[in-house]
Amino acid sequence: MSESKSSISLKEGDQFETIFWRNEGAQKETFPFRATTAGEAQSKKVILCADKNVPVGKPVRVRVIRVKRPQSEGRGFIEATCLGPVEFRIDPDIYVDPLISKKLQVLLEAGYSILLDGPQGSGKTVLSKAIADALDMEYVYFNCASVYEATDFIATLQVRANESGVAETIFIPTNFRQALLDAVEQPHRRFLIFLDEFNRCRPMARNGLMPALDSTRKVYDPETGELLDIPENVQFVSAINNGDQFAGTSAVDPAQMDRFATLKLDYPPVDAEVRILQGRFPSLSTSVIQQVAEIASELRNDENLEAELSMRATQEACTLLSHPLFSDEMEAEEALQEALATAYCGRFQGRIDDEGSDAGAIWTKIRSIVLRKK
Ligand SMILES: Nc1ncnc2c1ncn2[C@@H]1O[C@H](COP(=O)(O)OP(=O)(O)OP(=O)(O)O)[C@@H](O)[C@H]1O
Ligand SMILES: [Mg+2]
Repeated sequence: MSESKSSISLKEGDQFETIFWRNEGAQKETFPFRATTAGEAQSKKVILCADKNVPVGKPVRVRVIRVKRPQSEGRGFIEATCLGPVEFRIDPDIYVDPLISKKLQVLLEAGYSILLDGPQGSGKTVLSKAIADALDMEYVYFNCASVYEATDFIATLQVRANESGVAETIFIPTNFRQALLDAVEQPHRRFLIFLDEFNRCRPMARNGLMPALDSTRKVYDPETGELLDIPENVQFVSAINNGDQFAGTSAVDPAQMDRFATLKLDYPPVDAEVRILQGRFPSLSTSVIQQVAEIASELRNDENLEAELSMRATQEACTLLSHPLFSDEMEAEEALQEALATAYCGRFQGRIDDEGSDAGAIWTKIRSIVLRKK
């Protein structure tokens, strides 16, 4: 835990959130669990818990039932009772369906690796970081798209010139490997390794991770030629875009899928997207943001278009519309249409004046929605 936390004196009846770890101290028979933090602060006395079913390493809510004053030797302690798990609080700037959020928490706390499956720009990458923040986990970002060989997860073979200018090959350890070593050093920190673009590495290379993701919990280290343990305090979250339309991806086979609990994400509902965009574009009027989000939602839900319109697109439209250089020169309706022509249609093949193209079909739909809303 961070050294910079303020310290706090607790008293009977206080309630707060903490994380318990196994008590290896003298009183471990009576109090199998110990914690040192109370919410954001550091407790001046160690917090002990006698409840048998406390989840180790998971945020829980507790109440102080006794403050044991210091004896001649020893510093005294706080005895707390566990009230139950804490529902994790994802950054309110990130939308995640409330039911998915609950499933995510339960599965993560049960130790599962999680696979986030969703269309482009539906928040998989930002959510992975928000999960780590919510659970006070160390976040390690690893992009699988750069993995070519199975060993690349742990170290990549690079050629470089040594001091005498002679080419030599060396292994450069990845941050994935470093996280495994750090996790051993810091058993009281939890690490979330985010394997982004999991289906954008070579399928054969991905096989190298199979034993890391099952109960074997080991991975081959090319630098030492030995198997590295995946410590208990390391968890994996992966993200994929699943579908034939995604070039450069490869199917995650059933045995690989089976090692994850998969959660399917989708774009936020209109009201949630409006709220997020309002926060990011405070100078834009709610009615303009509402139109940007409603039109995006209609396009996403139109079965004839198959337009998976990323939240990057709605943000891009708002970026244009909120800038005086762009919007001051135009009537509001013209500005909206111009912004959408670029931010929405520009993402698809073809031109807006070619009705037979994807961009043209989306443009026709946008025009009809705008006309209808008049
Ligand atoms: N559910 C969401 N809540 C808040 N912001 C979101 C959400 N979905 C997308 N965004 C915004 O859209 C942008 C893209 O999000 P992100 O990179 O997380 O998407 P992704 O699902 O990982 O996409 P890709 O499949 O292309 O990697 C970010 O700026 C992010 O803030
Ligand atoms: Mg992503």
